[in-house]
Amino acid sequence: MPEFPSTYEATTLVGGTVRLGAHPFPGDALGEDTVVIEPDYMGICRADIKEIAGSRDIMEDRGPLFGHEFIGSVVFSGARTGFRTGETVTLNPNITPTRTTGFADYVFVHGAREQLDQAVVRVPEPEITKNVWMPEPFACIVHAVRKLVGLANLPSLQGKRVGIIGAGCSGLLFAMYARHLEASVSVFNRGAMRRDFARERRILAEEEIFPLAEAESHRNGFDIVIVASTIVTPDLLRTAAAMAADGAVLFVYGGTRKGDRFPGGDVDVDTLRRRERIAPAEYLGKRLAVSGAYGCLKEDYEEAFRLHAEHPHDFPLEKLTSTQIGLGEFPELAMSIAAGTADFPGKVLIRTTAADPDRARK
Ligand SMILES: NC(=O)c1ccc[n+]([C@@H]2O[C@H](COP(=O)([O-])OP(=O)(O)OC[C@H]3O[C@@H](n4cnc5c(N)ncnc54)[C@H](OP(=O)(O)O)[C@@H]3O)[C@@H](O)[C@H]2O)c1
Repeated sequence: MPEFPSTYEATTLVGGTVRLGAHPFPGDALGEDTVVIEPDYMGICRADIKEIAGSRDIMEDRGPLFGHEFIGSVVFSGARTGFRTGETVTLNPNITPTRTTGFADYVFVHGAREQLDQAVVRVPEPEITKNVWMPEPFACIVHAVRKLVGLANLPSLQGKRVGIIGAGCSGLLFAMYARHLEASVSVFNRGAMRRDFARERRILAEEEIFPLAEAESHRNGFDIVIVASTIVTPDLLRTAAAMAADGAVLFVYGGTRKGDRFPGGDVDVDTLRRRERIAPAEYLGKRLAVSGAYGCLKEDYEEAFRLHAEHPHDFPLEKLTSTQIGLGEFPELAMSIAAGTADFPGKVLIRTTAADPDRARK
């Protein structure tokens, strides 16, 4: 049995307040069905921020997402888990709710072997902590594009004109993947900060990024329109529908809430997204197919790792990180993002003391 400290640092989120504090190390949780992970890096996701702000509907089958993006090492593996200590892993938060937050020194994941096999995903890139990127957001995009192609019965994205609303992490990842699949991409973002970031980091070319206010001048210009904004408002859906050509697919990826409808009809966009369905809709005489995707599977992570390893030029995922902080800075920063007083383009990463190369792991 490895030695663990008597207390460890973990965050709590209660009533919109994030706190970091010392918690007793739960030695009795180290059972046969438990994997304990010590994160090196965690990512802040818009879903974390929405949970702080109380503006996200939580799926009971998988629990809250607060602290779901991280990479780290297995430091304890119960006899029935199939894992070994020292393995570099990440989490698929879509499998089991029996796990603790990733914004902590240690993450405890409990489950049957088959569940753990899906929920704890081995990272095949030995250098990932030196060249860090978050696998989960990319796996979700891989999953979403697979769903989009399958649900809309498309042979591929090759030659398609893809319009994307939102140049946040999701929008930029969609752009990378659609371009890799030989589609043309045009990304529309409301504010200048994320447009400048995408351009300055050369994630998007000058002719691929536009102010959202210019979407109207691209009316009927896209075969596929992806909505990847924090919230999917009726106005944004109208903008997306205006951008879509007759017969296009309107793909909803960003934040929907229970009861959200496609403007002027009864298509339930929240259910379409969460259940990954497709339905016909009409907008100003145009025939559209409205669809969406939610979460990802282990195979999507595996494809994400393959794409990054084989096509590093197409997937410069490391460039998405705009800021790195320590875990101690996280509560205040996350709450100021949730309050709207701070905003960062790309991804904010938290680097833990475990990521320090001079520190030997326990
Ligand atoms: N379906 C899934 O499986 C899945 C998976 C992961 C994430 N998501 C969801 O995808 C959404 C985006 O995530 P992200 O990581 O890309 O977030 P992000 O990096 O924080 O980017 C948010 C984007 O939304 C835009 N935005 C916010 N409010 C807007 C509004 N009222 N009108 C127009 N644009 C607006 C922002 O534009 P500005 O720069 O102008 O603020 C920015 O482009 C989140 O809701 C997240 O929960 C879904």
